[in-house]
Amino acid sequence: MSFEPNILTFCCNWCSYAGADLAGVSRFQYPANIRIIRVMCSGRVEPAFILEALNDGADGVLITGCHIGDCHYIDGNKNAEIRINNTKKALAKLGFDKRLRLEWVSASEGARFAEVVKDFTEEIKKLGPNPVKEVKINE
Ligand code: FES
Repeated sequence: MSFEPNILTFCCNWCSYAGADLAGVSRFQYPANIRIIRVMCSGRVEPAFILEALNDGADGVLITGCHIGDCHYIDGNKNAEIRINNTKKALAKLGFDKRLRLEWVSASEGARFAEVVKDFTEEIKKLGPNPVKEVKINE
């Protein structure tokens, strides 16, 4: 049986969630591997959310937000970029950094949202299942 990853996806309310919605309305095909959590801004996503998701067995975590300059809270996405980059550096020490991705998707970029999901899903498939799941099964 082929590996189908579970990817937790945080979408900011103002741009990326609308982009995801547009992808659906426009019937752009993308893998059904994501579960979306809507947040008001990408800057709302705390590193603890990411670590908890990975510890709970998510195979990947995707964070999407408004393009730089378009954040409805001015600097929320810039703060998100700093946070995510720092979290990636910490995760790199455990070999988990490729399981985390930050992307900018506007409300009009339904096709881009679908492409990002396809690309990240393929990358996670290549990485294989989150090893934390195996550890938990063997406990
Ligand atoms: Fe979309 Fe801040 S409101 S990233």
